[in-house]
Amino acid sequence: TLGGVEFAVADLGLAEFGRNEIRLAEHEMPGLMALRREYAGVYPLRGARVSGSLHMTVQTAVLIETLVALGAEVRWASCNIFSTQDHAAAAVVVGPYGTPEEPKGVPVFAWKGETLEDYWWCTERMLTWDGEGPNMILDDGGDATLMVHKGVEYEKAGVVPPADDNDPDEWKVFLERMRRSLAADSGKWTKIGGGVVGVTEETTTGVLRLYQLAAQGQLLFPAINVNDSVTKSKFDNRYGIRHSLIDGLNRGTDVLIGGKVAVVCGYGDVGKGAAEALRGQGARVVVTEIDPICALQAAMDGYPVKRLESVLSEADIVITTTGNKDVVTVEHMARMKHQAILGNIGHFDNELDMAGLARYPGITRINIKPQVDEWIFPADGPGDGSGSREDGARGEGSRGHSIIVLSEGRLLNLGNATGHPSFVMSTSFSNQVIAQIELFTKHEEYDNEVYRLPKKLDEKVARIHVEALGGELTPLTKEQAEYIDVDVEGPFKSEHYRY
Ligand code: NAI
Repeated sequence: TLGGVEFAVADLGLAEFGRNEIRLAEHEMPGLMALRREYAGVYPLRGARVSGSLHMTVQTAVLIETLVALGAEVRWASCNIFSTQDHAAAAVVVGPYGTPEEPKGVPVFAWKGETLEDYWWCTERMLTWDGEGPNMILDDGGDATLMVHKGVEYEKAGVVPPADDNDPDEWKVFLERMRRSLAADSGKWTKIGGGVVGVTEETTTGVLRLYQLAAQGQLLFPAINVNDSVTKSKFDNRYGIRHSLIDGLNRGTDVLIGGKVAVVCGYGDVGKGAAEALRGQGARVVVTEIDPICALQAAMDGYPVKRLESVLSEADIVITTTGNKDVVTVEHMARMKHQAILGNIGHFDNELDMAGLARYPGITRINIKPQVDEWIFPADGPGDGSGSREDGARGEGSRGHSIIVLSEGRLLNLGNATGHPSFVMSTSFSNQVIAQIELFTKHEEYDNEVYRLPKKLDEKVARIHVEALGGELTPLTKEQAEYIDVDVEGPFKSEHYRY
């Protein structure tokens, strides 16, 4: 704590750099700035205590300061151990009017390169307010929501369940954090769970968790699914990835993408952006899918649709975008080409069997630089069948083929690069701010279910960004509006329209 602001960030000395980048980002985030102007002097979030878990980047800094401008008190942590931009975190703590010696900003608990222990500690600090707890959560991937729900559940049971041998490390670390938390203050989570009036969730994976909780009748407060605003998933997930996937590959490896065979696993919104970006660089892109509709879309867009097993021996780059688990197994990795690049941009690292890779007999890991690892398989090892070294070194000594894994299997666009650029995050975060205002001011009108924002607000977000790009919207005449049965002012589409 310094100047009354509690924080845990890498280096407050980076605040000036962060502040300069935040200033440039504000110009590229017209949606957030329009909301600041629209609500100037109104403070719709006055009284809101927002606990936020979302990648602590420059763009998120503009979101945080928008929430503050609208009257909220905020505490923040990142939702990924590698995604924090330390200069952005420092600038948010210092605030626009503070100094590193006397910070006047927002409590942030995040730095690039946290351990899992650090991660859950930061999440708990972010949810722990002096006096009253948070009344709003802003989540990305659902970890903050998970922590509150599990805390309430364990307090009710009076015990944290023991870890199972088969549990992933993340879960074991989480259970340990909860055990310590309950030992320190046993009524804490029930109080927090009872105080929160709403959560707004950023991403596909977090939304899935919310719908599961709601279906089991266990959701403790109403939720708004921000991801499925059209101006979120059809823009951030797609065009954001189109930008930041290549950025991550370049900063991580600097390998020429043109001419290479790149496999994109999953052809949802993220997969579509990923495939387009790789094709734009001249890669020969192959898609894998489980869903025939998305597979057919990929085929119509000109991509061969294959099983991963069929293309592994040719693949130079493999990117997972599914939000599913075990998509690339260690057996797949053992069969990849020498120095093939493997990365994930789905929310969690379990898309790749990183645990299996670490346990593979005879495997060695060389850390090339932060968030870039070469994993070397043993020569003639059980899985070294089709992986081959072009330099003929196979069989001479103990080294077999190697693969290059980015960000330890976690979101490579945020781990190896700086995530999506400001303009597209402005569309996402405008929905976040609108959703926070909606739930904070009208939570009594909502049940403990998952809701989406009305289309009219989606169109409002889009309109601001079309205008910022100098686009001219064609106004409907009254006659035309009647003919297609919409209002002149919108919404312009039915709910079932798919964009
Ligand atoms: P989506 O549901 O639109 O797409 C996922 C696709 O993967 C679906 O078409 C599904 O059929 C397919 N799939 C599922 N299992 C598969 C398997 N075993 N093999 C091949 N395909 C499979 O979801 P969306 O919005 O594209 O998000 C995907 C993931 O990316 C989520 O975890 C989401 O949270 C994350 N995300 C990451 C971002 C980033 O900045 N890195 C940005 C936005 C979303």
